[in-house]
Parts: sequence; structure tokens; C-alpha cells
Amino acid sequence: MGTITAPVSQTTHSVSTIQAVQNHPQENHPGCCLWFTGLSGAGKSTVANVVVEQLIARGCKVELLDGDEIREHLSKGLTFSKEDRDINVRRIGWVAKVLARNGVISITAAISPYRSLRDELRADITNFVEIHVATPFAVCEDRDVKGLYAKARAGEIPNFTGLDDPYEAPLNPEIRIETAGRTPEESAAEVLAWLDTNLF
Ligand code: ADX
Repeated sequence: MGTITAPVSQTTHSVSTIQAVQNHPQENHPGCCLWFTGLSGAGKSTVANVVVEQLIARGCKVELLDGDEIREHLSKGLTFSKEDRDINVRRIGWVAKVLARNGVISITAAISPYRSLRDELRADITNFVEIHVATPFAVCEDRDVKGLYAKARAGEIPNFTGLDDPYEAPLNPEIRIETAGRTPEESAAEVLAWLDTNLF
């Protein structure tokens, strides 16, 4: 039996995770970028987090670049104008690219509303996998997890994606996920199945 190597991007591992690594070792995967895109509240981070857990359980090297977290650190101070969104998305893309070319599975979860920007990244990043979390606007607004849709409707947040700012849905994503009526685990399973068929 081979040695169990701890994934570099994570510091702690539960017994069940280590057990899963023993059962499904997958340390020699190619680098790639799983680029989640979709409206605020669509479920990008939720599904991405389950995918991360499952890939770590297989022994993969994974790094999650979450939109909200990136805006707290790498993109602190940027607004939601088109210009700043483009800067934000290009920054995330650059980090994702460096990780992917070094054999890591980089997973991003930002709205990334502009198609041309995502296509630019696709051309630049090793094994770019676009994942459209296609939760309809009405469902996102209904969920309103962070209360932002209500604020945007009240005119307190200008340029809110899907309301008075564009969201350009992918025309031909590698994966399209419908989250309504599905658990995050079921959605994550679709991503894992695609990877098993097409990349691993
Ligand atoms: S992106 O357009 O630059 O890709 P990003 O994913 O980083 O957006 O940030 C989106 C998050 O910021 C949303 O989930 C929401 O919580 C918050 N937010 C604040 N203002 C806006 C806005 N005007 N439009 C969309 N999301 C906003």
C-alpha cells in the first residue's frame, strides 16, 4: 500500500477523509480549473465546497478561490462596476491559471458575469472547465440568502447582477447545473462524474 500524502492546500484532515484517500487514491490528476459562474445566491460556493471536500477525500490537490473571500483580500476595495468586476475576475483567473499549470485543481466561485472575460480565461488556463450554476433569477431572489436582493430592489445596492446589471450566461459550458430541487451533494456529483469521464 502506498504512502498517504496530505494535500498541500489543506492543513487538517478528518479520519474519514484519510480513509477515503486510502479507498480512492487519485494523486496523479492533471491540473485544471473548475470555473463556477452564476448569479449571486445561485449556489456556486455551496456546490464548490462539496466538490472541494470530495476531491480532497480522493487525495487530489485542490484550492478554492471563493468570490466573497477574494473580495476581502486580493480584490479588497474593488467596486461592482464593469471595469472593477473585470479586474477582479482577471485576478482570480491569474491565480487559478498558476495553480492549474502546477498540477492543482483550482476551483473558483465568482459571479464572473461577462462572457468575453470567461472566454479570455478559457483560452489562457490549462483544462478550463466552465460550470454554469444555472439557478434562475427568480429562485435566487426568492432564496435571498444574504438579503441583498431585497436591498437591491429597494435601491440600496446599485448595479446588482441580474437586476440592473448584466449576467451573460455561458452559451456552451462544459457543465450546466440546475440547483433548484437538488441537494448540493447531487449537484457536486454531476461535476465529479464529468471529471471522471472527461479529465481523470
Ligand atoms: S463579480 O461580478 O466580480 O464576479 P463577485 O463574485 O466577486 O462578483 O462578488 C459577488 C458577491 O458580492 C455577491 O454574491 C454578493 O454577495 C455581493 N455583491 C455586492 N454588491 C453586488 C452587486 N452590485 N452585484 C452582485 N453582487 C454583489
